[in-house]
Amino acid sequence: MIRRPRRNRQSSSIRSMVKETRLHPSNLVQPIFLVDGNGVRSQVESLPIAYRLSIDEVLKEIKSCIKLGLYNFIMFPAVDEKYKDKDATYSYNPDNFYLKAATTIKKAFPQITLISDVAMDPYSSDGHDGYVKNGEIVNDLTLPILQKMAIAQARAGFDIIGPSDMMDGRVFSIRKALDGANCIDTSIMSYTAKYASAFYGPFRDALDSAPKGGDKKTYQMDPANKREALLEAQLDFEEGADFMMVKPALHYMDVIHLLKEHYDIPIAAYHVSGECAMLLAAAQNGWLNLNKSMDETLLSIHRAGADIIITYFAKMWAEKYQNG
Ligand code: PBG
Repeated sequence: MIRRPRRNRQSSSIRSMVKETRLHPSNLVQPIFLVDGNGVRSQVESLPIAYRLSIDEVLKEIKSCIKLGLYNFIMFPAVDEKYKDKDATYSYNPDNFYLKAATTIKKAFPQITLISDVAMDPYSSDGHDGYVKNGEIVNDLTLPILQKMAIAQARAGFDIIGPSDMMDGRVFSIRKALDGANCIDTSIMSYTAKYASAFYGPFRDALDSAPKGGDKKTYQMDPANKREALLEAQLDFEEGADFMMVKPALHYMDVIHLLKEHYDIPIAAYHVSGECAMLLAAAQNGWLNLNKSMDETLLSIHRAGADIIITYFAKMWAEKYQNG
């Protein structure tokens, strides 16, 4: 045998030298579930490593993440039913606790990156990402609402606006609105290929944001489709997205790879709540080693082409990284 690939695996130092993919805490984004009030830290039952936190607890959480070298956060609000209406008006109300929290966070920790969520579902009495009229999600009536939401978030201090709604034309609409409001330095991380997935369950539990009727299949993508992701990517690129995201991550590695090959802007992947919950549940049963399976999972998403990984494991992984 001329070629013996095992030679390059024979010691830990050689394996380290030939390692093709390395993950660093700077590649990771930690999601935060924000609730109104004070002193709240309530566990999400279907995702036991995640908590709904009030702003005082969020500040403590971010501080401890910074100590671990983790500087990137994406925040989602759990909104009380009383604030929800058809037009999601609370999403751009200056009294909105989510917007106020962003201002407080960025004032306390200007060095971090804070990513928002733009979609109507947390604020909509219909629980859909877009405006519902006669049972239909109306694309073009949604866009002006998303614009107002994005401007309010940029003004509140979010560094990156994250449209997760999958309406057509929203990236351009938001870019135009942000520029018009003189927020030219606020970036857009578009949920470019977001699939109508069964793996969002724990997230919807956490925020109580499941649709009140129907499903999200007329706007989120069909899990069967890959070429369509290229069309979404082309549009988002042309419309001015600064980052493109694939969501979920593990079950869509081929899509991550495809976008990475075709586009020269950073690619993010959202390792979603259900994908994390699977590992946690198996580990709780003693069926998997959580540390090792988490490591392999995040590394694989990175290897597939994701420069950035949004994952509920971010803090846990950063802690492990720091401890060697
Ligand atoms: C909603 C939104 C969802 C997630 C992020 N933003 C759920 C949905 O589309 O119903 C899911 C994230 C996760 O499961 O971790 N705009």
